[in-house]
Amino acid sequence: MIVVLLGPPGAGKGTQGERLADCLRVPKLATGDVLREAVRLGTPLGLAAKAAMDRGDLVPDDVILGIMKHALGAPSARRGVVLDGVVRTVPQAEGLARVLRELGRTLDAVLLFEVNADELVARLSGRTVCSTCQTPYTGREPGSRCDKCGGTLVRRKDDEPDAVRNRLTVYDRQTAPVVAWYRAQNGVVRHVDAMGSVDDVFARVARALDVTCDPA
Ligand code: AP5
Repeated sequence: MIVVLLGPPGAGKGTQGERLADCLRVPKLATGDVLREAVRLGTPLGLAAKAAMDRGDLVPDDVILGIMKHALGAPSARRGVVLDGVVRTVPQAEGLARVLRELGRTLDAVLLFEVNADELVARLSGRTVCSTCQTPYTGREPGSRCDKCGGTLVRRKDDEPDAVRNRLTVYDRQTAPVVAWYRAQNGVVRHVDAMGSVDDVFARVARALDVTCDPA
């Protein structure tokens, strides 16, 4: 199954994407994670992406298309993949369609996570993430330890108030049109009410895809 997760910053794409990938037993590709790892390692990709990411702007489409193509062509993606935040502009949606066509694959669903603006800001301002495995936490102080891998929790630079405001604007301007593009293309869009507990939202995700998953 190939699933695209769409939704504003803080909507829970990473949280739900992780559970969905476990449930489907497929990898999750999160371009945000790939880029943050590149920044951490100081690779040319990371050095080129860092300033835009810190401001909450998007990195160029050709960079994302390169990451997408590489990941989808990998043997690990043969059974499917959960694409978390990988498609944020119409050229990226067109690029994904092209890559899938070349690989003889089809997109099964686009899940659109819907959360109100106050909740998005509350989630992002209270978030810390593991600097090693990127697991997000709410209400845990920077410097605490990650339950999963023991890494140190840090606050993301783009979770500062100015960057959050910019990310929400960028979403409305550049990513919201992607929803219309998918609606017009092939009717794969499924809305997910992403308010409420992580378990409740995951139950809705599973229902939207008509899959059954063991409880976490
Ligand atoms: P990325 O890391 O993907 O950031 P994002 O899309 O802004 O999404 P977030 O990670 O902030 O939120 P999320 O929806 O994953 O929510 P999460 O599960 O973490 O991208 C970062 C940057 O990389 C971009 O700004 C851009 O610069 C660049 N980039 C990446 N992809 C790109 C692309 N395709 N094109 C161009 N540039 C790209 O949850 C958020 C918080 O809420 C967490 O603390 C979590 O614990 C909590 N939470 C989750 N669910 C719930 C719930 N149900 N109830 C209460 N709390 C919850």
